[in-house]
Amino acid sequence: MAGYLMGIDIGTTGCKSVLIDADGTVRGSSLEEYPLMTPRPGWAEQDPADWWQAVQSGVRRLLKETGAPGNEVAGVGLSGQMHGLVALDGGHRVLRPAILWNDQRTGPQCRRIHELVGGVPSLLELTNNQMLPGYTGGKILWLRQEEPELYDRAHVFLNPKDYVRHCLTGELATEVSDASGTGLFDVRRRRWCGELLDLLDIPAERLPDCFESPEVTGRTTDAASEATGLPAGLPVVGGGGDAVIQTTGMGLVKSGILGTILGTAGIVAMGLERFRPNADGRLQVFCNNSPGTWHVMGVTLAAGGSYRWFRDALCEADREKAAQTGRDAYEVMEEAASAAPAGSGGLIFLPYLMGERCPYPDPNARGGLVGLGLHHGRAEITRAILEGVVFSLRDVSELIGAAQGPITEIRTSGGGSLSPLWRQIQADVFQCPVTTVSGSREGAAYGAALVAGVGVGIWPSVEEAVEVLRIETETGPNPQNGEVYEGLYRIYRGLYGALKPSFDALSRSGT
Ligand code: XUL
Repeated sequence: MAGYLMGIDIGTTGCKSVLIDADGTVRGSSLEEYPLMTPRPGWAEQDPADWWQAVQSGVRRLLKETGAPGNEVAGVGLSGQMHGLVALDGGHRVLRPAILWNDQRTGPQCRRIHELVGGVPSLLELTNNQMLPGYTGGKILWLRQEEPELYDRAHVFLNPKDYVRHCLTGELATEVSDASGTGLFDVRRRRWCGELLDLLDIPAERLPDCFESPEVTGRTTDAASEATGLPAGLPVVGGGGDAVIQTTGMGLVKSGILGTILGTAGIVAMGLERFRPNADGRLQVFCNNSPGTWHVMGVTLAAGGSYRWFRDALCEADREKAAQTGRDAYEVMEEAASAAPAGSGGLIFLPYLMGERCPYPDPNARGGLVGLGLHHGRAEITRAILEGVVFSLRDVSELIGAAQGPITEIRTSGGGSLSPLWRQIQADVFQCPVTTVSGSREGAAYGAALVAGVGVGIWPSVEEAVEVLRIETETGPNPQNGEVYEGLYRIYRGLYGALKPSFDALSRSGT
């Protein structure tokens, strides 16, 4: 059996390719960026041709830089930004730019879908998820309403990574985790939801065949081999939607370990051995990458995004100091935050800078710094931002944990997990050990490479594949800080409700 596995992730800012070997060690990775288009406020689009171009150059560069011969790659796994819409015509040509997960145009279509099925509880019965404005289902209805000529010419609707699959293998296929995020999938039975498709009058044949994540969905064609440097005939497995397969790459296949991902958004997630009904629809419950397992998550929209906003809008001095000393601005900011006490002297940051998805599905929600006094300075404000984001993670985790039993470990990844102070704040707020594991630094592409290894027989199951993960850091909780945070968190929990009328009034005021 040839030795390497490749994971390719079609992200929102770029394509990451990673090469690992059969013991899970990362041999190398490459990142190729591409533009995001916002032709109107609230719209977010990308050209699928840019993704394919990035895959070609990224894979070629990765093979060159690692010196790995293409013919020693045993299989490829795909991952990608979820919920997007790529429409192809009968000749499999792209009909319009892809509409992405963070595009906000489909509010009216989502309301219409909820009406057509008879309300949110009825939709939860069918798919176990609400139709959020980012999801593919609303986008298909938007296309039918706003661009009917293109809709009529559409032969198939794909998610972003599945367009790349088509370029690599010629096949039209998806897998259960990304299909879950279309909002058109019966997550309990792991198949397209025929009843919903009928209600919405979407022909089932316009959706691709759906596989389990480790299944081989096709093999690289001669043309794809020519374009990427990979051999022809290489198995390409289903892979997964990024938010799901990234947690697989962190080893979150069983309940008990809570995952937190501190990217632009903050994801709180857990693997589930059994199907779990999504009681009020505030969480997202999707099929997981191991057959017969599920995934539950809640997304708080501005996690690393809050910290980045603060750095760019208000920390010019830190940025200058960092530039002069050849350091990262976050490192300088963290030094300041470490000097402030736990609890930031009673200052609480609300991270709702972009509205919120979970636990408060509210586009009008706004951020805030509550409790400011003359005794607060830059150190306290910086620390309060890190703490407020973790309060939001805990708020989401309580929705997940309520039905799931005790949490014994928090496993964290994403850019924010590289900060020792942010890891300590997580350990203290949750009063639970916080770990990071090998490989997860490479994000969703790493999970995709592991799942490819299952598909080509290197590991018998996803559960066994993740045994290659090694704990890299472990941060224990500090009980004294825990007491301070417990008190502040209770206050934090009351603030959204107390401020909600003001958020709505601000939104109505149009300022
Ligand atoms: C998951 C989600 C994002 C996108 C983009 O629900 O909206 O994680 O998949 O990365």
